[in-house]
Amino acid sequence: MKALVLSGGAGTRLRPITHTNAKQLVPLANKPILFYGLESIAAAGIEEVGIVVGATHEAIREAVGTGEEFGLRVTYIPQDEPRGLAHAVLIARDFLGDEPFVMYLGDNLIVGGITPFVQEFIDTAPNALVLLTEVDEPEHFGVAELDGDGHLVRLVEKPKDPPSQLALVGLYLFDENIHEAVRAIEPSSRGELEITDAIQWLIESGKLVMPHTLETPWIDTGKLQDLLEANRIVLESLDARSDGTVDAGSRVSGRVVIESGADVVNSEVRGPAVIGAGTRLVDSYVGPYSSIAADCLLERAAIEQSVVLDRVEIRDVGPIRDSLIGRDARVERAGAMPGGHRLLIGDHSEISVSQA
Ligand code: TTP
Repeated sequence: MKALVLSGGAGTRLRPITHTNAKQLVPLANKPILFYGLESIAAAGIEEVGIVVGATHEAIREAVGTGEEFGLRVTYIPQDEPRGLAHAVLIARDFLGDEPFVMYLGDNLIVGGITPFVQEFIDTAPNALVLLTEVDEPEHFGVAELDGDGHLVRLVEKPKDPPSQLALVGLYLFDENIHEAVRAIEPSSRGELEITDAIQWLIESGKLVMPHTLETPWIDTGKLQDLLEANRIVLESLDARSDGTVDAGSRVSGRVVIESGADVVNSEVRGPAVIGAGTRLVDSYVGPYSSIAADCLLERAAIEQSVVLDRVEIRDVGPIRDSLIGRDARVERAGAMPGGHRLLIGDHSEISVSQA
């Protein structure tokens, strides 16, 4: 069995972070989202992985390398434009050969890993296995219609009138029949080759497509609120440890990871939280569900339920909540400036200011 991991795409819903960064490399508890997927593939006993990459291929290659660190052998498969999930299968034909494979969306988090589904696929040998989960707004997803016996009848992509609450999760298992399916379908109205159409083609061709409804959480981290939720879930599973220094005037409580070289001075950290390597907290508060990446500086700052990337500086501002702050950003009080906010903000940023 091989794995095909999709790490191209545009990431429009996470702009401006995705103007400069691959969305699959945004960290959860200071580790790129993509790494959780690669680890779960290795844990399922799969060694050969094809990673589909787009405009951000350099950053993905730099982060993952040969895959050796994960116990994997990685082949990169360039995709010229995000032409759809089925297009990714189409261009991976040579890499995949006729072997069965797992297709994993590189920005998805499947809590508990993928081993049970790989095992189920091997044991029951259908032509495809799809995972489903109940969602509140199925119109934003690929949606499944099941009959009274739980058989999959139909799949529709982002339907206006959803036939159920069951959305397709970003993990699929296929045998070689999917290659004929992705060649047979046409691009959808949004111009993409849809994997839902390819799976629908399998159903209509009399192939066995098995549905499996998930009981563990699954999160597509493509939007800010979902990313913060995924960060929250990962932080809750951390074991507390400190490889940095905490002075006598500071208080650290709950599940907190302090990475090497981090320095906590006259500050409070309430877990679950992670403080990255080389980061300095001075007279600051870091509250639950926060991930502060490496080499940041927080001085007289307060933050919670947020993800902060490398080398961010925050001074005299807080409380900051439900936020994602990109690399090398600086957030500080305006000082003597008479009234008003002074902003230098990247394209497609979102700022919510509460009136003081
Ligand atoms: P999506 O989140 O569906 O698409 P996107 O990355 O273009 O994001 P947005 O809607 O915010 O613009 O993609 C799911 C995953 O698959 C994601 O990791 C990107 C990847 N992908 C590809 O590698 N190639 C593609 O052609 C598409 C559409 C997605």
